[in-house]
Amino acid sequence: MSTERTFVMIKPDGVRRGLIGEIINRFERRGLKIVALKMVKMDRKTAELLYEEHKGKSFFEDLINYVTSGPVVCMVIEGEDAVQVVRRMIGNTDPKEAPPGTIRGDFALSKSENVIHASDSLEKAKREMSIFFDTSNF
Ligand code: PPS
Repeated sequence: MSTERTFVMIKPDGVRRGLIGEIINRFERRGLKIVALKMVKMDRKTAELLYEEHKGKSFFEDLINYVTSGPVVCMVIEGEDAVQVVRRMIGNTDPKEAPPGTIRGDFALSKSENVIHASDSLEKAKREMSIFFDTSNF
């Protein structure tokens, strides 16, 4: 076990639906710490950088249009094994597969509008948080 930091983003549908407080509350109640937080309206270039591994896939354009359609809330979350713990708390990418009790399992049905993103590895967490935060301040 080790203390890790991971990157989480509440997507535009989560913000539009007023789920920011509910989601942050879940992470804090679990014992995780929010160490950085900001609301941003991503431009296309930033969105393409964040999701560059999916460039060329059939859903890429829809994904970029969706994540730039409104503000998102970006945060860095710290805790024991935070990368894996947060991924388990958010549930499967396809919310229909996400168990009740997970964020997607409780609040989403569509794979394209699935409320929240979280890094799936420590390496990705470092890359993704550096897109939105000056990590030299951490
Ligand atoms: S893959 O090809 O299996 O790696 O892709 P997947 O893990 O299923 O999805 C990667 C991210 O793309 C989002 N996604 C979409 N967004 C908008 N529209 C459509 N059609 C769509 N299909 C997939 C999906 O929610 C994943 O987002 P993140 O933020 O990484 O969870």
